[in-house]
Formats: sequence, C-alpha cells, structure tokens
Amino acid sequence: MTKLRIAVVIGSTRPGRKGEAVGRWVHALAQGRDAADYDLVDVAAFDLPLLSEPTVPGSANRRYEVPQTRAWSETIDRYDGFVWVSPEYNHGVPAAMKNALDVLYPEWGFKGFGIVSYGADGGTRATEQWRGILANVMGTVVRHQVALYEFLDWDDDGAFAPLDRRPQELRNLLDLLERTTAALAPLRA
Ligand SMILES: Cc1cc2nc3c(=O)[nH]c(=O)nc-3n(C[C@H](O)[C@H](O)[C@H](O)COP(=O)(O)O)c2cc1C
Repeated sequence: MTKLRIAVVIGSTRPGRKGEAVGRWVHALAQGRDAADYDLVDVAAFDLPLLSEPTVPGSANRRYEVPQTRAWSETIDRYDGFVWVSPEYNHGVPAAMKNALDVLYPEWGFKGFGIVSYGADGGTRATEQWRGILANVMGTVVRHQVALYEFLDWDDDGAFAPLDRRPQELRNLLDLLERTTAALAPLRA
C-alpha cells in the first residue's frame, strides 16, 4: 500500500505565535511512522488575502484568480489528511485559518483531520467548532484530539514544554488519523 501524505497545518499567522512550536513538535513526533509521511505546512507562508476570489470556491472547479490561492490549492491537493494545529481566539476558530479553509473547497474533501488545539483553556471550544465546519467541506475529523493548555504545557518563560502524557496522546491521534485517512481513500479516488 502506498504511504499516506499528511500535512501538519500551522494555523496561526500571528507575529510571536505559539503555534509554530506546537506544529514543529507534532511534525517531529510524526517522523518515521510506517503508514504516513508528514510535512509541515504553514498558513502564514501563503499570505492569503481575505476571501478575494470572485467565484465561490465550491463552484470554481479549482480555477482561482488569485496567485496565492492557486499556490495554496496545489499544496493542499498533495495531501490525504491533515493535523490541524489551531489556537482558540475569543472562544472560536482563528480567522486566518478559517479563511485558509474557506478559499478552497474540493481540495479538502474525503480527507482525514486530527485536531491539535491550544489556548488558555486548551482550545477545546475551537475544536468543537472545527468539527462542524470541517464536516461541510466533507472532511472527516477523528474523535481523538490533543488539547494543550497555556498554563500546563508552557513553562514560566513562555517556552513550549508539553506534559509527559502529550506525546502518547498525539500518537493515539495519529494512529486514528492514519486509519481513517486510509479508509477514505476509495472516496478520494
Ligand atoms: C485575539 C485572541 C483571542 C484569544 N481568545 C482566547 C480564548 O477565547 N480562549 C483561550 O483559551 N485563549 C484565547 N487566546 C489566547 C490564545 O489561545 C493564546 O494567545 C495562543 O498563544 C494563541 O495562539 P498563537 O500564539 O499561535 O496565535 C486568545 C488570543 C488572541 C490573540
């Protein structure tokens, strides 16, 4: 069986963001797995404008006018599934990551998603919102999640220092994500 390709998507575009350390941690722990190869994909690197495509993405048939959207589309098309690294802003999903989702449509379909959230309260409210949002692009979000808490998983100096149990939580998430993403392959074909 061919190996799955999964992207670890860093969703925060904020200067000084905590999300980059989280994404790098996920990516490092995901190396050397049998079922999938993992790449790091950073929303910030694509400099996506705020939904500036004139055609609704669900009707555009991948014909986008904005060069940044085309580059983003080509990148997302390469992957079978995603680890969705999301902060929580004002009890909800972060706008830049939602925009990155909204500017595409078919690129997400029948792919697996595993959510790694973080925030003062673990970002779990954002995760629950993502479950509904991702269902609409026909993404399948696995049950398992990793929730990282600013006051538990970062040290007093602000450095990312995940609790001892987090690596196993992440491995459990990746196991389920890979099984789910593999099972969705006939629908992607
Ligand atoms: C605009 C804004 C709103 C926030 N709202 C929440 C919130 O509702 N709940 C929460 O747990 N943390 C909240 N936080 C704290 C963030 O989760 C925390 O700052 C985190 O580091 C943000 O991720 P980032 O640094 O990768 O952008 C908020 C942060 C920002 C910038």
